[in-house]
Amino acid sequence: MGSLLIESGRISMTERDMVAATAFDLRQYAATRRDLVERTLDTLVAGKEPAQLWESMRYSLLSGGKRMRALLCLAAAEAVSEHKDAAQSGLASLPCACAIEMVHAMSLIHDDLPCMDNDDFRRGQPTNHKQFGEAMALLAGDALLVLANEILIRNTPNTVQAEILLDVVAELNRAIGPEGMVGGQVADSISTGLITMPTGSQSSVSPELLESIHKRKTGALLRFSVWSGARLMAAQDHVLTSLARYGEILGLAFQIADDLLDVTGDIKTLGKTPGKDQAAGKLTWVSLYGIKGSQEQLQKLCIEGESLLNETALTPQAVAPLRALLDFAINRTS
Ligand code: IPE
Ligand code: IPE
Ligand code: MG
Ligand code: MG
Ligand code: MG
Repeated sequence: MGSLLIESGRISMTERDMVAATAFDLRQYAATRRDLVERTLDTLVAGKEPAQLWESMRYSLLSGGKRMRALLCLAAAEAVSEHKDAAQSGLASLPCACAIEMVHAMSLIHDDLPCMDNDDFRRGQPTNHKQFGEAMALLAGDALLVLANEILIRNTPNTVQAEILLDVVAELNRAIGPEGMVGGQVADSISTGLITMPTGSQSSVSPELLESIHKRKTGALLRFSVWSGARLMAAQDHVLTSLARYGEILGLAFQIADDLLDVTGDIKTLGKTPGKDQAAGKLTWVSLYGIKGSQEQLQKLCIEGESLLNETALTPQAVAPLRALLDFAINRTS
């Protein structure tokens, strides 16, 4: 977290940032936006045929969750908005924020399948395949993935230039695809032996491999969440670059915190079964660096992320929600 710097009686940038961040009430900020996202998601998956498919999609999409990715997208849009009512103008990113939550729900449904992490609980309830069977879980995930793209394209207001929207759609798919989440999940599955390597090739466990898995399987979508919010508001290139790097740092930190919680968390708070990573022999930050090493890395990433927010030269007030979300991602208990 940011350190206090007092430059000869003048309040330094770092101290002003701290004041803005301290005064900022993330709980209240997040509550209003989460409510908006929940209500919008609810209408986007309202009762259609085949009823069982929509029921399965709704079951996973509307089961709570922190809505971290939606909040990051809205917060980035608000941060770069030049209008007075940033919250209002940031709403151009609401369809994107909802699309991201649909993609995330898909990733959780598929990640929990018996052929992947084989998990029984998610968000405090039985996993999708436990409730609806594997075939439906697979198809509900597929449906959420393509619906996300449709919603992003059709529901983004036409105040957003077509060229920008096209860029956002392309980047979303890149974040999910072979270079992003899917590629990361494949590397993760190779590390646990769920996917076997072609004969002759060998996979060696290394810190670089672990960081690359985390950045792809989890980081890519979190990075996109931040970048897309700013891009939809036509942010300047240098701001976009710093925010994208902040998103990447947050994404890596988010998965390190997830690895830690698998060891330190309890089922009631997590809503999913802890201890699964070690049982599966998974390559995680904790398995490589231990609990203390992982906590130290989180503190380093927090400082790095905060300095990237400073690099944007946006006001401390404008980036206060992003600063608080980084802190939350690192210090969360669920
Ligand atoms: C869990 O994501 C899966 C990971 C990428 C680590 P979250 O921790 O954001 O899950 P929800 O959305 O809050 O349930
Ligand atoms: C999940 O990573 C990554 C994606 C869902 C893409 P984990 O497998 O560690 O997530 P949890 O612990 O099941 O939530
Ligand atoms: Mg997994
Ligand atoms: Mg998992
Ligand atoms: Mg995990």
